[in-house]
Amino acid sequence: MFSYAVAPMMAYTHRWARIFYRMLSQHVLLYTEMLVDQAVIHGCDITVLPQEGPVILQLGGSDPDTMARAVGMAEHHAYIAYNINAGCPSDRVKQGSFGACLLKDPPRVAAMIRAMRQETHRPVEVKTRLGVDDQDSDDHLYRFLESCLNAGCGRIVLHARKAWLSGLSPAENRTIPPLQYDRVLAAKARFPDADIMINGGLRTFENPWQETLGGIMLGRAVWDHPEILLTVDPLVTGQAGSVDLADSVGRYIAFCNDAGARPSLFFPPLMGLGRGKPGARAWRQSLTDIIAQRTGQGGSGKHHTLLIHSVTQ
Ligand SMILES: Cc1cc2nc3c(=O)[nH]c(=O)nc-3n(C[C@H](O)[C@H](O)[C@H](O)COP(=O)(O)O)c2cc1C
Repeated sequence: MFSYAVAPMMAYTHRWARIFYRMLSQHVLLYTEMLVDQAVIHGCDITVLPQEGPVILQLGGSDPDTMARAVGMAEHHAYIAYNINAGCPSDRVKQGSFGACLLKDPPRVAAMIRAMRQETHRPVEVKTRLGVDDQDSDDHLYRFLESCLNAGCGRIVLHARKAWLSGLSPAENRTIPPLQYDRVLAAKARFPDADIMINGGLRTFENPWQETLGGIMLGRAVWDHPEILLTVDPLVTGQAGSVDLADSVGRYIAFCNDAGARPSLFFPPLMGLGRGKPGARAWRQSLTDIIAQRTGQGGSGKHHTLLIHSVTQ
């Protein structure tokens, strides 16, 4: 079945964002932000709440044993799969020799996949790019993909651009290297049985690849316009959507308040609502004001309710 996914985004796709996104779509595939394998081993909170629905844990690391141990810890939680970050070009990631660096070391990634699979029956997948630095040919990409697939990789998420490890910031690495969707399609043609999900620069879940690819993943577009998640369930089921956006926002705020979440964490996923509409600026300002006041009680006033309606109509 064709998958619709929200991209893993550090500091963005945290638990609260995932709970909000799940309220807007039962069928969308959600990923955690990247968690470093060592942090997982040392006991960082990886609990999945039932309200998140199916979630895939993205892990950053480069040592097969450590990645396997992190998977062993995560097996106590309700993840549906594990994803290896082999595409992120940040400095922190480079120091640990993981993320996009891994594209240069296919045998290591294969060893990681194999070690992780020893610990779980859940699928292990890889998120990567078309190339890194001067290793950006189709030949290199295909060798990398073949090595992952032979090791039992269940899905490849392909960000449709290469990364430069020096000279570009992570943000520039998400805009400057050109998007090359044709190379993702060529990779799928080269590995027709592989589940390949396309990512990078896409602004809508509607797409021309349902018959060819395994799925589509959007990151910044969901952050900028979370209401586009309302399009996912109708695309999956072929039936009209039934989610009431204003009601979902109200329930989300109530849930987060009850759970004791900080507004500085759970309000940002709401900031994009209604972007471009007349009430959007006032809405963002009201959320920002509540965060600044640190009241911990967002969204209870009448003014706030009016604003919700102005950005969700
Ligand atoms: C703020 C931010 C944080 C990100 N963090 C991660 C991450 O933790 N793991 C990862 O694999 N990719 C990360 N990415 C990359 C996204 O998953 C995605 O590949 C990229 O943004 C391209 O997709 P888009 O154009 O739909 O946003 C991040 C992107 C952004 C904007």
